[in-house]
Amino acid sequence: MSSIKVALLGFGTVGSGVYELINHEQKRLRELIGRPVQIVAVLINDERKQRDIDQDILVTSNIDDVLAQEVDVVVEAIVGVEPAYTYLTKAIHQGCHVVTANKEMFAYKGFELRKQANEQRVEVYYEAAVAGAIPIISTLRDVFKVNRVARLEAILNGTTNYILTEMRENGTSLEAALKTAQAQGYAESDPTNDVEGYDALYKLVILSELLLGKQVNCTTVEREGIKEVNLESIKRASKRNHRIKHVAKLAFEGDKLQLYIRPLEVDEDHPLFAVEGVDNAVVVTGNYVGQLKFEGPGAGKFPTASVMVDDLVDIMQQDQRAVSPVVR
Ligand code: HSE
Repeated sequence: MSSIKVALLGFGTVGSGVYELINHEQKRLRELIGRPVQIVAVLINDERKQRDIDQDILVTSNIDDVLAQEVDVVVEAIVGVEPAYTYLTKAIHQGCHVVTANKEMFAYKGFELRKQANEQRVEVYYEAAVAGAIPIISTLRDVFKVNRVARLEAILNGTTNYILTEMRENGTSLEAALKTAQAQGYAESDPTNDVEGYDALYKLVILSELLLGKQVNCTTVEREGIKEVNLESIKRASKRNHRIKHVAKLAFEGDKLQLYIRPLEVDEDHPLFAVEGVDNAVVVTGNYVGQLKFEGPGAGKFPTASVMVDDLVDIMQQDQRAVSPVVR
């Protein structure tokens, strides 16, 4: 029985998590998909760095060498728009399915990438790009068919929510809390993206495109990071029994779409008040379903990696090339 050939692009926190999970879950994956899953290549930046990767697997910095391995699915966990977009475009045109966790690339290029994938009749799955382990992409896709989105409020960055929680609960400084978030593998390689709100902005754009069914320009989102939040302002809010949360919002003023990320003081009745630590949450209101709330880990190696492996399973279960899975 031929195996499903997977190429990993990136071997950082999330990429190495995907590698470990695929190896640990071989039996389960075979039951789910009906065929063994084999990692055939890993694309890395620096070929001199030592990594714990099986010797039979090609480790290279050359994307053409990776794609020459008759790859079925490319699993991408690198940072930034380029070279990721170019690599994935090549993969799609070679008939590979794609699983990505790259929110910046997807916020700018997701629309285009999905169009190309449609034309080439391959899948692009991106559940891990937004809100970590919360299955928000597949859920919103299911729920918002007849429903129209009225508003969305969310916490979309685990690092900033963790920092704000640490500052309030333990009086930790922003800098010290950020260091712990980095040590836990929550923060981006450049944590400016977390602290200044860029990471949450990308995720809000991706959700908005899904909910509105049209391309959303990143420059239309107002963005404010958490740099100006200090222990004093957090204490003042606490005295009123309020909390400061870094909130991403989609709303309509008449017909006008409003998108922003900013620190907001919320009271105890607010659905984001009790969302703490590295958790994310999405509170979305549809015209028929009313308000729905989803909450769970927003960052971290295995929560994110497992979502990518689940995407891989979903794709292969639908793919004609797969044969009779044992379980679904
Ligand atoms: N740095 C991101 C966060 C990782 O803290 O939410 C998950 O996208």
